[in-house]
Amino acid sequence: MTTDSIRHFRRIRDVSPDELRFIINKAIEIKQRPDAWSTALTGKTLAMLFQKTSTRTRFSFEVGMTQLGGHAIFAETRLTNIGIADLADEGLVISRYVDVIMARLKQSTDLMTLASASEVPVINGLDEKYHPAQALTDLMTIKEKLGRTADLKIVYVGIANNVSNSLAMAAVYSDAQFVLCVPEKDPDSDVPEHLAFLQESSRYSENPDIAEAVKDADVIYTDTWINLEYFTDPSFAEEKERRINTFTPYQVNEEMLALTGKDTLVMHCLPAHKGYEVNETVLYTPNSVVFDQAENRLHAQKALLLWLLNKL
Ligand code: CP
Ligand code: NVA
Repeated sequence: MTTDSIRHFRRIRDVSPDELRFIINKAIEIKQRPDAWSTALTGKTLAMLFQKTSTRTRFSFEVGMTQLGGHAIFAETRLTNIGIADLADEGLVISRYVDVIMARLKQSTDLMTLASASEVPVINGLDEKYHPAQALTDLMTIKEKLGRTADLKIVYVGIANNVSNSLAMAAVYSDAQFVLCVPEKDPDSDVPEHLAFLQESSRYSENPDIAEAVKDADVIYTDTWINLEYFTDPSFAEEKERRINTFTPYQVNEEMLALTGKDTLVMHCLPAHKGYEVNETVLYTPNSVVFDQAENRLHAQKALLLWLLNKL
């Protein structure tokens, strides 16, 4: 069987702007009328492969499959033979058992290898370069809260990383204005061709000046300055200290919100490191939609699963 025609969701650019809009609108509809899809994936199975920890991605995909009438298998890759065998071979075998795969692998190159070998759609559940399922949810949440995405100003503050890469692409696809307000970029998340694509759009800009960047922002978004697997890693302690010093002026707090001149939404993919990239007061103010955003992972991913399996 040829695997060339299989639709994957490895990154936002695997779908067109129209397709992204369609999935987002369906996600909102599914959230309102979940019962209408309660048997849509009866008999279907999702394999969930994790090399990294997760709360939201794991629970929302697994519950999503249950609510669609299907089934999900959770596997930590260290308890499979993926680490000691050829990844493509193992991916191909898994794809012969299941209807769709979601994988959180540390390396984007491994996710690409898995997708190339798989005979069923592969969803990226986060790698060091992208987090497309998160960005899908983020644009759904913005549309749900503000009624539209076009011409809104979405400002990402903190460190440029996997989350900001996918968010930027989804925002530009959704006709929003995206501003990256960062003092530096996580080198692991660098993808020159992704950046080149964004830089072609008049909707994408970078501005490290906080006051200028956040003025008139409809949304301020932030993420951890240190990726999950390094936060408590002793070998990363020195770099962690350096980053805290560099990024502290970029903390999302009341002073930053006061600079927008608007009733700005605060978003975060979670988990948050309170007192670092966001302070506790702002995380729990009414402007913060982080918990609705986290819930929406469930609804957005149900729409994504249905779309990839041609059930919408
Ligand atoms: N936002 C997100 O992907 O959360 P988890 O790491 O808990 O899955
Ligand atoms: N940037 C973070 C996001 C976690 C959801 C990480 O990669 O660990």
